[in-house]
Amino acid sequence: MSRALRGEHPQVHPLPAAAEMVHATAFLLVLSLAVVAPVLSTRKCVLTGRWTNDLGSNMTIMAVNAKGEFLGSYHTAVTVTGNDIKVSPLQGSQHRTNENSQATFGFTVNWSFSDSVTVFTGQCFVDETGKEVLKTMWLLRSHVDSIKDDWTATRVGVNVFTRLRSKKE
Ligand code: BTN
Repeated sequence: MSRALRGEHPQVHPLPAAAEMVHATAFLLVLSLAVVAPVLSTRKCVLTGRWTNDLGSNMTIMAVNAKGEFLGSYHTAVTVTGNDIKVSPLQGSQHRTNENSQATFGFTVNWSFSDSVTVFTGQCFVDETGKEVLKTMWLLRSHVDSIKDDWTATRVGVNVFTRLRSKKE
């Protein structure tokens, strides 16, 4: 008569040590992915700090206050004028961040070395590697002497900003 028919339980052999280790490693891998992936995707994008863009311009955004307002400075790498470039002030605001970790924002640069103003609008993203990136569009309004020239006065473009880190970081 077989063991089963005699009501005996089949003997359970312990897994060899190597197979157990493979199981444990796979389990830990799945666990760490489950923990890390949501953290990366929900990491908050913070505007405060130093940024550089695809033209080589640098800007510093100071603290964002409780209303989402901020001040800063902008050092453009380029100008449409022949003037000497000077660091210029910026002021802006970002949308409520307690509701959204990748906030929309806008800011205005009042150029201190020309008669122009640029408005930027954009969104602060955390990319798939965890890096913060500001995707923006801008309108640069230049001064013209006559209303007849108004149609020439506005340029449009995009800038992508990434965070500038000090060498210590
Ligand atoms: C001017 O030339 O009158 C002022 C400087 C404008 C610089 C523009 S603003 C949009 C674009 N992004 C930059 O970083 N610099 C240029």
